[in-house]
Amino acid sequence: MSRNITLTMIKPDAVSKGYTGKIIDHFITNGFKIIAMKKLKLSDTKARSFYAVHKERPFFEDLIKFMTEGPVVAAVLEKENAVESFRETIGATNPADAAEGTVRKLYAENIERNAVHGSDSDENANIEAHFFFSDIEFC
Ligand code: RTP
Ligand code: MG
Repeated sequence: MSRNITLTMIKPDAVSKGYTGKIIDHFITNGFKIIAMKKLKLSDTKARSFYAVHKERPFFEDLIKFMTEGPVVAAVLEKENAVESFRETIGATNPADAAEGTVRKLYAENIERNAVHGSDSDENANIEAHFFFSDIEFC
């Protein structure tokens, strides 16, 4: 895929609190085009695989428990400079440090239950997009 994309998940805290629509609207208002989207519940195995980069971190087991407690909404978003632009849109990992008007400032509870995921590089965006979606779902 040569399009400039990022992969997001609306995390279980935000989905369970009914923020999905507001958060998707926030993405669109900030210029992101949805090119694939689905709601699903991550299995323990899939969550461990998605966050494998963090497996040695002290928060890993809590993160897996959180990410499997309820459904998430995964989406591939397209925009120029998508990865960096999206991380500006969602704000800092800890909502206490997130800028005013960012998704995490508006909707996150704390550093773990922080409402949304965003890819951290173009390479990982491509890997993560294909973790959830097959090529025929990109449109
Ligand atoms: P994400 O990957 O979900 O977009 O978040 P991020 O890049 O802003 O943060 P990252 O360092 O990749 O951490 C992944 C997720 O792990 C949880 N976390 N908990 N308890 C803690 O200290 C802690 N630190 C990170 C968060 O859910 C974070 O988004
Ligand atoms: Mg990350």
